[in-house]
Amino acid sequence: MRRFTTRLILSLMGSCLLLLAAGSHEWEAPDEAKKMQNPHAATDEAMATARTQYDENCKFCHGETGGADGPVAGMLKEKPPPFDDVEAMAKVTDGELFWKITNGKDPMPGYQKKLSDEERWQLVNLIRKFAQ
Ligand code: HEC
Repeated sequence: MRRFTTRLILSLMGSCLLLLAAGSHEWEAPDEAKKMQNPHAATDEAMATARTQYDENCKFCHGETGGADGPVAGMLKEKPPPFDDVEAMAKVTDGELFWKITNGKDPMPGYQKKLSDEERWQLVNLIRKFAQ
């Protein structure tokens, strides 16, 4: 019986992995969102708060310094894009990053309800610092 249960659990885990691997890709923010300007300056105080929020909400996927190397990064069906890739980050606008944090896309949750507009904009500022 024990062995059967173990086998059942293993096969269920296998199916989950297959489902995780089957995700599609393409994540474009709408043009309107891309054009949005960040209304908040990255003050030291705001960066300290954003750092705490990043540690609580984002680090386990995106990694300590945005290198997409958090403890669960390797288990996700999509790999988080590295925030410390200066070239890649130069191609995305603040508005686009803000829109993505707001809306999320499986496996990343959206933070519209959990974090205020200002908190999400400050996370954009923090992410920018990883590419400096
Ligand atoms: C469960 C893991 C997970 C968590 C938690 C998470 N993310 Fe993500 N994030 C991802 C993945 C995976 C992607 C890429 C999704 C895709 O392209 O399909 C992503 C993409 C992004 C992007 C888009 C970057 C780009 O260049 O397109 C931003 C910005 C972002 N995350 C910020 C955050 C912030 C800020 C938090 C915390 C408030 C957070 N994420 C929490 C997994 C996560």
